[in-house]
Amino acid sequence: MIVAPSLLAADFLNLGREVEMVNTSDASWLHLDVMDGRFVPNISFGFPVIEAVSRVARKPLDVHLMVEQPELWIDKVAALGAEYMNVHFEAARHLHRTVQAIRDAGMRPAVTLCPATPVEVLRDIINDVDMVLLMSVNPGFGGQRFIPATIGRIERLRHLIDEATAPVLIEVDGGINHETACAVLAAGADAVVAGTGVFRASDPRAEIAYYNSL
Ligand code: DX5
Ligand code: ZN
Repeated sequence: MIVAPSLLAADFLNLGREVEMVNTSDASWLHLDVMDGRFVPNISFGFPVIEAVSRVARKPLDVHLMVEQPELWIDKVAALGAEYMNVHFEAARHLHRTVQAIRDAGMRPAVTLCPATPVEVLRDIINDVDMVLLMSVNPGFGGQRFIPATIGRIERLRHLIDEATAPVLIEVDGGINHETACAVLAAGADAVVAGTGVFRASDPRAEIAYYNSL
């Protein structure tokens, strides 16, 4: 399956080395978590940092904006050369307009759902997005425990996507380990984000290779 290591769990004192590890791994994408301290009760890193990362990253960037008014940042994310721009359903008031603007800026639009948001809210926009990012923890922090109800949510979302015959990927973010990755794959997910599970492992490249092999 597709694996996107989340830089949030990396060693920030050695970011260049961590990005190079991902560059030389089986990872499909590099996941970047931006937080504003308002949409989520935490602040991670901002544009000066991810601009530096983007200059050395050789994997497509999967940018996850945990911010209010994500539409304000479309041009800056596009300037990074990002492949995917993920905006939260709960933070984007005019979601359709935002999704169109992301595509017009040359990126693949993705919509992110918090654990309490029913997947059915995407029914009328599913043909306009390239990916849905399902949060399997509450956004804002790495290292949290996977919420089991996510499995049923993936199944329902897969059904909704298949019904619409839309070529939309399902990515799952939070609490991914060997066990939960197998469960989300069986439920119909295409991609996993793994932070702690990759960067805090003794052999991060081997962990990435494992998820990639599923
Ligand atoms: C959480 C972020 C995740 C986070 C996942 O808000 O969206 O991408 O880095 O971390 P782990 O894999 O440690 O749960
Ligand atoms: Zn994320």
